Amino acid sequence: MSRLPRAFRKQSAQQRNSALTEILELSEEERAALSGGSELLDLADVMVESAVGFMPVPLGIAGGFLIDGASYDIPMATEEPSVIAAAGFAASIVARGGGFTTWASEPLMSAQVFLEGVAAERTAAIEAAESEVGAALAPLLASMQARGGGFRGLRVRRSDEEQLARRKVVCVELVIDVRDAMGANVVNSAAERAAPVLAEAAGGSTVMAILTNAARERTAAASFRLPLSQLRRGKLAGRELADRIVLANAIASADPERAVTHNKGIMNGISALALATANDTRAIEAAAHAYAAREGRYRALTAYRIEGDELSAELALPAAFGTVGGASSFHPVARSMLRLLGNPGAVRLAGIAAALGLAQNFAALLALVSEGIQTGHMRLHANRLAYKAGGRGVEIAAVAERLVAGGSFNLQAAERILSDLRAHR
Ligand code: MEV
Repeated sequence: MSRLPRAFRKQSAQQRNSALTEILELSEEERAALSGGSELLDLADVMVESAVGFMPVPLGIAGGFLIDGASYDIPMATEEPSVIAAAGFAASIVARGGGFTTWASEPLMSAQVFLEGVAAERTAAIEAAESEVGAALAPLLASMQARGGGFRGLRVRRSDEEQLARRKVVCVELVIDVRDAMGANVVNSAAERAAPVLAEAAGGSTVMAILTNAARERTAAASFRLPLSQLRRGKLAGRELADRIVLANAIASADPERAVTHNKGIMNGISALALATANDTRAIEAAAHAYAAREGRYRALTAYRIEGDELSAELALPAAFGTVGGASSFHPVARSMLRLLGNPGAVRLAGIAAALGLAQNFAALLALVSEGIQTGHMRLHANRLAYKAGGRGVEIAAVAERLVAGGSFNLQAAERILSDLRAHR
């Protein structure tokens, strides 16, 4: 069961903030951070250089996710309207069919050590240096190893690109299990520490040493099955609606221009969760899009099928999420949002992210193949106009409601309604 109060969605932001403070027993610092306290400048200052403050991005919660039999309320930080409502809407439909099932791989990250001037016959010598590299990395990876992670081995690749072949460039990939960390720091350190050992074994010199954000071996997947009888949107229902969703997904798989938008919708959810938990949104985005093009053509990350009387849906993608180390551990908002999720490890968080991405996509397809996405957007547009016109607190909903009823979505109309409202108070 969701821990949020029943009327959470309908409460004022202030009430929701108080409810969350109570549920999570937020400390003063966490509450101040969640509410955008200006005393947090020191935090900004230790996170980035030349800090001047914060760029407040709204943080919301998509409630009601049923994932692997457990209930989740998922924090999402995003500037885009409709995204959180769409995720929660899809989650409620999917819950009726039994919820999401997820899977995530071991948290394996790779470093790339590029060497040049390496003769072809040195490959075996590089491979034979594996235990020497392991020994060189042992002190660095000791605490990771104590938690069940550590160095998992190396691979040597050679490119046949003309310029690289001429310079006899090889790439040595070091595979490291980073456990609950995102891993960028430790993997980059490992790459730099291993580079001289590898250069020596290869009889070449180091060009550069850095992790790869592709995270091909750190993937997560989510799926759901939904009886066709549970599918309804506007005038469409059941098999007809499912058939349109399957076709929409096939279009995204066949047409790269559409696939970009389709996958962007998936990342609306995943990046919002990444930001809410202070994860590296750019790394996660880059990996997802590279993965979508892994067959040489950019495709949809999802698959939908009708199987008997059910719609089945799947999403798989790399998901380099961390829950310890980095900003996730010390950013007070990220820390409290991880607590809202039950303090998941990185593997669990990757699975939750995949479920959220699939929910986001399902909501988008449901709208796109029925009444379109603009209908839902107009309500939020009306809220923004009410805010822009100067409305605050309860005035926003009151002005927006009248804007929607009147059907004219412009600032003048919002200002007129607001002054009318205030005159009659
Ligand atoms: C908007 O941010 C996301 C969508 O465009 C995704 C999609 O088209 O699938 C609605």
